[in-house]
Amino acid sequence: MMRTHTCGELRADHLGKQVQLAGWIRFSRDHGGVLFFDLADAYGTTQVVYDPEAMSREENRESLERMLKSFGRESVISVAGVVRNRVPGTEDPRNPTGHLEVLIEDAELLNSSKPLPFEVADQKGSLLPSEDLRLKYRFLDLRRTQMANNLRFRHRVIAAARRALDDQGFVEVETPMLCRQTPEGARDFIVPSRISPGTFYALPQSPQLYKQMLMVGGMDKYYQVARCFRDEDSRSDRQPEFTQLDVEMSFVDDRDVQKLIEEVLSTVWRSIYGRELKTPFPRVTFHEAMHRYGTDAPDIRYGLELHDVTDIVRGANYEIFKRILSKGGKVECMNVKADLMRPTSGDESAVGRNEVDRLIEWAKSQGMGGLTWMRMTPEGLQSNIVKYFPREVTAALEKEMDAQEGDLLLFLAGSEIAALKAGGELRRKLARDLRLTEGKDHQFVWLVGCPLFQKDSVSGQLEAFHHPFVRPESTDLEGCNLNCLGGLSYDLVLDGSEIGSGSIRCHDPEVQRKVFRLLGMSDEKIDTDFGFFLEALGYGAPPHGGIALGIDRLVSILLGCDTIREVIAFPKNKKFQSLMDGAPAKVEETKLSELQLLCLVGDDEDDAC
Ligand code: AMO
Repeated sequence: MMRTHTCGELRADHLGKQVQLAGWIRFSRDHGGVLFFDLADAYGTTQVVYDPEAMSREENRESLERMLKSFGRESVISVAGVVRNRVPGTEDPRNPTGHLEVLIEDAELLNSSKPLPFEVADQKGSLLPSEDLRLKYRFLDLRRTQMANNLRFRHRVIAAARRALDDQGFVEVETPMLCRQTPEGARDFIVPSRISPGTFYALPQSPQLYKQMLMVGGMDKYYQVARCFRDEDSRSDRQPEFTQLDVEMSFVDDRDVQKLIEEVLSTVWRSIYGRELKTPFPRVTFHEAMHRYGTDAPDIRYGLELHDVTDIVRGANYEIFKRILSKGGKVECMNVKADLMRPTSGDESAVGRNEVDRLIEWAKSQGMGGLTWMRMTPEGLQSNIVKYFPREVTAALEKEMDAQEGDLLLFLAGSEIAALKAGGELRRKLARDLRLTEGKDHQFVWLVGCPLFQKDSVSGQLEAFHHPFVRPESTDLEGCNLNCLGGLSYDLVLDGSEIGSGSIRCHDPEVQRKVFRLLGMSDEKIDTDFGFFLEALGYGAPPHGGIALGIDRLVSILLGCDTIREVIAFPKNKKFQSLMDGAPAKVEETKLSELQLLCLVGDDEDDAC
């Protein structure tokens, strides 16, 4: 037995007991010949002490002392000794074992450590090394309390979600990793087949088609903690491989799926925070989200809502607005209420001129062209451009925006979509700068009523707003305006980030084929790529629907992390490389030729390819 207790276990009732601990030396110090070590493992830290005065046998003392002095940081040791109280005044009340220590009688080096590339111990105020260095030595980074806690928290979230789904009769089914392409909108990671040269598997972007086939197969309630692979641009909330809590159910409508997810998250809440989650979650339509919050993933924990003031400002003689309005553009306005803004030094009128100038610069740096502002005073709206706005226009603005003294009105003008998106960005920036979410509870929102299709901005071709398997609101696809056609889809948004997405599916193969055709696919392509799927739907597919939650995003938001890399044990860096093991890496030519991926150029011109 290498240990009788863990390094986080000893308490007052162990005093006087003989124990054996094993762990890593996080800190060591020598106080006049008395050696102190912080011995750490996954469960905590215990102070272990070598006191030469307390050693009974002289010959033991010398060899033990020599050995202990040779131990470097992060060496793995085991020590045996007696638990005793720490000297009064040297206790550490923040540590559950901080009132006691183990007086070392014997020790053994289990493994030594090379000099460390960075400090593993958590020290107050110490800076983290660069992320690339942390990722190269991720096995050391994981020893830090923060990272260890993140992974344990993630485990608890997944375990609670699994429990909730198990209790409701869901069955976890593993679906293939080597599959046909699944069109989720990103590029695929492709895996060549050795046995069938020239053919390729794709790693799943999600288990979408398999989970639908499980419904055709009568599985009724499926879930999976599923790995997904997408070759898309790097972002702080994106990884090329990530994890979904993937769910599918038969004989359900959209509300059934949403209710299930609210129950799953309620179980997570109870298990993690020991309190109830407020359900049902508020629902916001896509149209409302775009027009009030300037985004399809709204954070509704604070106001700063957008108002379309286009018709009001038509009466102004302000050149910038006139130019934009003449091109059919829009003007959006946001009221930054006086009480949201903290007074800044030397400017009692809250967000002062300097801050407004900085906001204007920021808006320009975001490609917004600029930002117009007015401040509410006892004499009405004021600013350097107010002279271009007749009094009836400013009065109408004051009314529409409910402007009170000290409020700051910010105007964004441009094409409708540009003005709304800029408003969404500005909302997010102000919320960050003014710390509007500090101390607020997390807030889930269902985004519903999304369109089925959107137009590709370059080609003008219709593309799926979510993916092609969403059931249209109306199955009369010939008779409706496709630009306005809705899909039976729903996204789950948490604190302004999309953490989940799902829909009711096309279970009728004819409807599914029509959707594929509208997406520009020929019947030949449909049959080649999705023939197997349409075939399956043709054998009595039940009405079904589902959802997938992004586990990494959910966990990172709950932990307040800046990036999902902080909640993944071995993530890729921003360039999607794994610095620890050097992936992606070159492959030997023999391997490539085995896969027939290498064209060997021979002497003969005809052999060249
Ligand atoms: P979607 O593509 O919206 O839907 O993905 C569902 C959720 O997965 C998370 N997510 C990601 N997380 C980290 N890195 C990524 N690259 C990444 N991409 C997506 C997000 C997202 O909300 N098959 C459908 C679900 C369904 O219809 O049931 C799907 O995958 O949190």
